[in-house]
Amino acid sequence: MSERCLVTGVAGFIASHLAEKLLQENYEVVGVDYFSDHYAREVKEGNLQELRGQPRFHFAEINLCSAELQPYLDGVSCVFHQAGQPGVRTSWGEDFHIYLKDNVLATQRLLEACKGSAVRRFVYASSSSIYGDALDLPVKESSPARPISPYGVTKLAAEHLCYLYRTNFGVPTVALRYFTVYGPRQRPDMAFYRFITTIHQEQPITIYGDGEQTRDFTFVADAVEANMLVLQAKALQDWHVWNIGGGSRASVNQIITLLERIMERRTVLNYTPPQHGDVRHTWADTSAARRDLGFAPRTSLEEGLQAQVSWQMTKASKR
Ligand code: UGA
Repeated sequence: MSERCLVTGVAGFIASHLAEKLLQENYEVVGVDYFSDHYAREVKEGNLQELRGQPRFHFAEINLCSAELQPYLDGVSCVFHQAGQPGVRTSWGEDFHIYLKDNVLATQRLLEACKGSAVRRFVYASSSSIYGDALDLPVKESSPARPISPYGVTKLAAEHLCYLYRTNFGVPTVALRYFTVYGPRQRPDMAFYRFITTIHQEQPITIYGDGEQTRDFTFVADAVEANMLVLQAKALQDWHVWNIGGGSRASVNQIITLLERIMERRTVLNYTPPQHGDVRHTWADTSAARRDLGFAPRTSLEEGLQAQVSWQMTKASKR
């Protein structure tokens, strides 16, 4: 009989790819999502298209903050907790309560439900934003965690919750710190999605700051692979947290030059003030993930961008 996995936030960008991969590898998937309004439900329904109707996929529309969670853990041996309110720059002010709820409270409730269960692995999707403006690059997992956005604070708080449920109650948690993931189905509020759309529509691109900020961009299939490696790893006796970076560090300005080449179009750049909460640079030291899991990102920035452009152009042509 195939192992059963729970994937939270399954209608989202990374989780929908992960669920597809799990099904391909013959796992059974229980997928949950509450269709938060961070972006349109229609887009998330599109993410679920390949999954719906597959016999080993079971979907439930539930909110982790209020639903009785035990029934969704029935027979589940691995939990991939991908759900959360994303977005660094939108986490200020009034909306912070959404981040608290969907990132901190939801994680705590899920961990409570996992206490004493048969779950053998619990993988928490953390974020590079927990590091804030790191002084030494590339960042190691042992680098200081000093987020500079409310979003980063909630991702770090949830990571701590995972740690303390492991140490107090033996919930077998580990965390993956993703670095700016991109590729087909990227969220519409993220940089590449916006840049590709505006270049295609021949509109000016809005750049926050001088565009010299850098990110360690990670192709979605590489992020998914990291989850699969954790799933298949032998004994993980202790708490682990791993940086998952794509090894493709580039500035926003370099990305735009690359996109102009791929899309064979020139664009007008509109430089605007830097955004609060945005870190200047991210760069992952992934040697721990390589050593412990055999993680090695496979997709170059050029290939990955090509894939995202093709996906977005196909989507645009269907409208
Ligand atoms: C991304 C995700 O949105 C977070 O959910 C995730 O946790 C985070 O990565 C992470 O790695 O921890 P971010 O790096 O801000 O956050 O990713 P993008 O939204 O793709 O932005 C990349 C860069 O482009 C940022 O410096 C941003 O300021 C810039 N940008 C974005 C623009 O200049 N213009 C835009 O219209 C959008």
